[in-house]
Amino acid sequence: MTNNNLKKYGYNVLKTPKNISNTIKKGIMKNISDKFPEKNFFTINDQAKFIKKLSDRRFKKAFGNNAKRILDFKTNNTINDWIKGKIKKQLKCKRISLNIISKYDLKNNDKLKKKQFNVFFRVVRNKKNDVGFPHRDSSFWKLGDLYAREAPFKYKKRWKFWIPIFGVNKKNCLRIIKKSHVDKIDLKYRKVNKNLKPTIPKAYLKEKYKNIIVPLKKFDGNEGILFHDDTVHFGPKNYSTGCRVSAEFNILTS
Ligand SMILES: [Fe+2]
Repeated sequence: MTNNNLKKYGYNVLKTPKNISNTIKKGIMKNISDKFPEKNFFTINDQAKFIKKLSDRRFKKAFGNNAKRILDFKTNNTINDWIKGKIKKQLKCKRISLNIISKYDLKNNDKLKKKQFNVFFRVVRNKKNDVGFPHRDSSFWKLGDLYAREAPFKYKKRWKFWIPIFGVNKKNCLRIIKKSHVDKIDLKYRKVNKNLKPTIPKAYLKEKYKNIIVPLKKFDGNEGILFHDDTVHFGPKNYSTGCRVSAEFNILTS
């Protein structure tokens, strides 16, 4: 049995140690610096300012594909070790692990190591359409090959952990539809850039409008959101003045 809040609402806010959010931040900075070796970045703020000025074409080339936003082997091992403590306790499971990158990821990013863990980040530029629509992560896993990822053992459940890293505030933070993990939703599949994307009907979103919440109160990386893979969630368009950077990872348990 999992923690009560998780079971009832489909999510829980968890305190995250500063060294964990710092490790992730450093991993993201390394990923961005490697993409632009001609630049000498000192802070993530420098990087965010630079990204903001990139053309759409250069931005998509560097950050469009998810594989290009997967953090390095070492950073991800640290995160995998961390979830074996607090998160394992929260989920009351026997085994726990991050998922392993797919062959498709490896093909799209030669900096990745075979069979490494998968922690990735997102950059959402301000006033751009860098965000998706409300979805359940589980619908993507069901699509198979392109999205399905491996685990080091046969798992029973999937969870997601999301953490703000830079430029996140109440207005642009991840939204959750409370208790949506238990709803029966009639998903529609539509083709976007040759790939099928599961779509949640507008009528459902309209009906659940009042259940849309921003679970986090702190945006400094000292807390993150753990949620069920059937919980509906989305990142809103970013109307702040700068880029928003967040990290996330799937957690598999048995
Ligand atoms: Fe998601």
